[in-house]
Amino acid sequence: MFDVKKIREMFPIYQNHPDLVYLDTGATSLKPKCVLDKMNEYYEKYGVNIHRGVYRLSYEATEAYDEAREKVSKFLNASFSEIVFKRNVSEALNFIALTYGEKYLKEGDVVITSELEHHSSVLPWMKLCERKKATLRYVKLNEEGRITIDAFKQALDENVKVVALTYVSNVMGYVTPIEEIIKLSHEVGAKVIVDAAQAVAHFKIDVKKLDCDFLAFSSHKMMGPTGVGVLYGKKEILEKLEPLEYGGDMNDEVCLDCVTVKDIPFRFETGTPAIAEVIGLGEAIDFIESLGFDNINEHCHTLHQYALDKLKDIKGIEIYNKTSELAILAFNIKGVHPHDASTIFDEANICLRAGHHCAQLITKWLGVVGTLRGSFYIYNDYNDVDKFVERVKECIEFFSQFEGENNE
Ligand code: ALA
Repeated sequence: MFDVKKIREMFPIYQNHPDLVYLDTGATSLKPKCVLDKMNEYYEKYGVNIHRGVYRLSYEATEAYDEAREKVSKFLNASFSEIVFKRNVSEALNFIALTYGEKYLKEGDVVITSELEHHSSVLPWMKLCERKKATLRYVKLNEEGRITIDAFKQALDENVKVVALTYVSNVMGYVTPIEEIIKLSHEVGAKVIVDAAQAVAHFKIDVKKLDCDFLAFSSHKMMGPTGVGVLYGKKEILEKLEPLEYGGDMNDEVCLDCVTVKDIPFRFETGTPAIAEVIGLGEAIDFIESLGFDNINEHCHTLHQYALDKLKDIKGIEIYNKTSELAILAFNIKGVHPHDASTIFDEANICLRAGHHCAQLITKWLGVVGTLRGSFYIYNDYNDVDKFVERVKECIEFFSQFEGENNE
């Protein structure tokens, strides 16, 4: 396991909140100092616009920005032109529906998705299907709430043109058998869009090996800054797409009634981008790679097992995802609204997420109003788990005095 004391020294938030028990990496990860320093370095040393100025500082900024795109492309095993920067995963996934989907989806076509999706993976396709008179089809989840190959095969037929699925569920932490799903989808000519928001901080993603058509993740979930998301698209697909937005920096020539647009990826990035954040993301990639995904996984897995073990004999807690591959606990304190429970954890400086996690379909599938979610990462240790488990017990104890009252 990591030496968490040393890891925490790299995360300034712990200096400001020494007692913080941060179990909400699923919502956003904490940021290491090296990422913050890298962004500051841009602002302090060469903080000017890119692709525009014909002067040295602007070349320097452009070079740093391009280097970061190069890093992202290597990180995913993609090429430079296949990486488009967006604000976040939501924007990236909407972009795909509004460009690729708008161009190719026709009446009678089918889009496969699932009840495990984050809203940003399902809603853009729901709205597009409504407009195009296409069908949105849900893979039937198994009894645990997982997407299985058998159920996927049942949903797949020749009418399926798009498959939009999460790589890892943000509520349950289940890993989708996406590689096999991509193979099967390609056999019927469907394109596959992978929401990798929760996956990216936990394991190596190789888009060539996966052979996915599109994939998206956000920098802020992998220790990079907020405000920048990555859209990967296969070159041959991106090249056929029109820009969604027109404006600065995405065009070559403009005349009174014409415009020619730049090559990919630049034609999809209109206006001044999040320069500092993209450069910060490049640093986050270096940081995560220096830790190593195997080590990250081992650390998180160990904490997860430790937590499950400590929770297993506690009666007043209901855990919905005991077999989750990722270190995510989806649970409730029996009979207590997750928002109420969350405030009790907050009083002990324990940050959990509570509610439907922008994934109402799986919350409904579970038949609850919401869940509590604890997600563990590299800066958590056994002590965090111990404090968390103690608070679970205190929370059960506290709410037991209201048993019988209408607190559902
Ligand atoms: N989608 C993020 C989460 O799961 C915000 O919490």
